[in-house]
Amino acid sequence: MSGPSPSDASSSRAESGLQSHGPAIKVEHIKKAYGDNVVLNDISFELERGRVYVIMGPSGCGKSTLLRAMIGAEEPDAGTVFIDGVDTWAADKKAREEARRKFGVLFQGSALLNALTVAENVALPITRHTDLLKSTVDLMVKLKLELVGMGDAADKYPYEISGGMKKRAGLARAIALDPAIVFFDEPNSGLDPVMVGVIDKLIRDLTIKLGITSVLITHDMASIFRIADEVLMLYGGRIVFRGTPDQLRTTTSPLVRQFVNGDPEGPINAPRQLAELSQALFGASRPVTGEYQAPGERDKP
Ligand SMILES: Nc1ncnc2c1ncn2[C@@H]1O[C@H](COP(=O)(O)OP(=O)(O)O)[C@@H](O)[C@H]1O
Ligand SMILES: [Mg+2]
Repeated sequence: MSGPSPSDASSSRAESGLQSHGPAIKVEHIKKAYGDNVVLNDISFELERGRVYVIMGPSGCGKSTLLRAMIGAEEPDAGTVFIDGVDTWAADKKAREEARRKFGVLFQGSALLNALTVAENVALPITRHTDLLKSTVDLMVKLKLELVGMGDAADKYPYEISGGMKKRAGLARAIALDPAIVFFDEPNSGLDPVMVGVIDKLIRDLTIKLGITSVLITHDMASIFRIADEVLMLYGGRIVFRGTPDQLRTTTSPLVRQFVNGDPEGPINAPRQLAELSQALFGASRPVTGEYQAPGERDKP
């Protein structure tokens, strides 16, 4: 028998749940390319324990790739990631598994199993990684579902509940093993603005209440300003900005300002190409507004 009882787990949690005295996460000289596409080009940073970090950047800039390297899901071409002082990519399999038990992940789209109830989904990581008695597991699941306000939905199936409830269930599953660190990949995608606010508050409250180190990937600026202690911007394979939300608001970097303000014109490539496309399609005076519609079989000049 291993593993603490739920009450032990939450008291150790308040003291951060990490063993080393160093940073919760240390990313060291990570490189990753897919063929010629260099996605991560020598990235290094450290994340302190007990804070909420946001990693932001335009679509396709490599946020999920960076996340996969951090959670041990995809090995980088070079560099490594330390979780609570453990070099996860140098460690043997057993040590890597140990390190993995220290964090939970809320994947993009929640990734709940449709054949299982909400409670069974939340129980999955517990039964997989511990040999706790069923009655203990049930208690842990109940506690986690209460924490995310899903106590009444334990026996529902994922296809019976709303998008916001799925995120909550995914969140309950991510914290099922009382992780010291939780990674969230775009926790707000597909939610309406009110629900985004609700989920943001839940993440923020849980992080503080449970003493978790949170790493969120998002490009929702409203969320970033609401939730982040610190923001890192990934662009062109590098971290081009790191600072508090206030520093983000007042930065003079044209690149970062363009992203924060959502300007169609600026140093960020994709929108500029879009602006050029718009100019070609509609003429110089037409501003780019609203949703962009792909031109389909547009004639090449
Ligand atoms: N498994 C893969 N094989 C090939 N290319 C990939 C793969 N995963 C991601 N990419 C490419 O890497 C880049 C970064 O992708 P991703 O990390 O998903 O970006 P983001 O999460 O910031 O939108 C994109 O150009 C994407 O097409
Ligand atoms: Mg992504």
